[in-house]
Amino acid sequence: MKGKFYGIGVGPGDPELITLKAISAIEKADVLICPDAGNGKKSIALEIGEAYVKDSTERVPMTFPMVYDEHVLNKSWEDNAVQIETFINQGKNVAFITLGDPGVYSTFMYIVPFLVEKGIEIETIPGVTSFSAVASTMNLPICLWEETFTVVPLQKDVTSARIALENTDNVIIMKPSHANKELAELLIEKGLDDKFVMISKVSTDRQNIVRDINVLKDEKVPYMSTIIVKRKGI
Ligand SMILES: C[S@@+](CC[C@H](N)C(=O)[O-])C[C@H]1O[C@@H](n2cnc3c(N)ncnc32)[C@H](O)[C@@H]1O
Repeated sequence: MKGKFYGIGVGPGDPELITLKAISAIEKADVLICPDAGNGKKSIALEIGEAYVKDSTERVPMTFPMVYDEHVLNKSWEDNAVQIETFINQGKNVAFITLGDPGVYSTFMYIVPFLVEKGIEIETIPGVTSFSAVASTMNLPICLWEETFTVVPLQKDVTSARIALENTDNVIIMKPSHANKELAELLIEKGLDDKFVMISKVSTDRQNIVRDINVLKDEKVPYMSTIIVKRKGI
């Protein structure tokens, strides 16, 4: 009998923000995929989920390069999918743990189509997103009544953030470290410089809450930071 492939969201950092379903799937895994970006850094998702991994679970490092070359990316997803398929065909349950929720900018979802094509059974287990944790930490709603919200992964060119800020009530900005100075200038231009909150490493013991626009503009922002901007104010 073939095994099953699990994509498991482990939440934003606090081990108590992992679901019971995620824990049970991690405990059942015969093989745990340990994704890395090929830069020698340990996966944060693994740090969060590690406490639940049995000693008998085989840990398999797997590199997903952080590059924009589509050919290189496709090749790495396909090669990694072939490796996963081998374990599945041996009857092993394979777990791929991912930070936050697997549906939000997660590497897991890039390999899913390759495995669907091979007829492999897949189960995705949702997790608490980083932006849910940011809103909860501040006791803030993400949206109320008929309000809209947009999620923007910040890029060097802040056009997507500008469009979102002009057209939606609440804007979640992920990956703000890509252009935090430019974003701060945009917030000042739009009169939103006191209507944002940024939390770095939310729900961990290194959590840092920023409301000061000068910090966003002038200081180095950690990659693990998320911003919520509320046009009606915070
Ligand atoms: C590759 S995405 C992963 C998103 C994740 N799947 C989720 O559901 O939140 C990485 C981005 O998620 C956000 N992020 C992840 N963990 C975070 C944390 N503990 N605190 C603040 N932001 C976090 C940051 O915006 C970071 O740049």
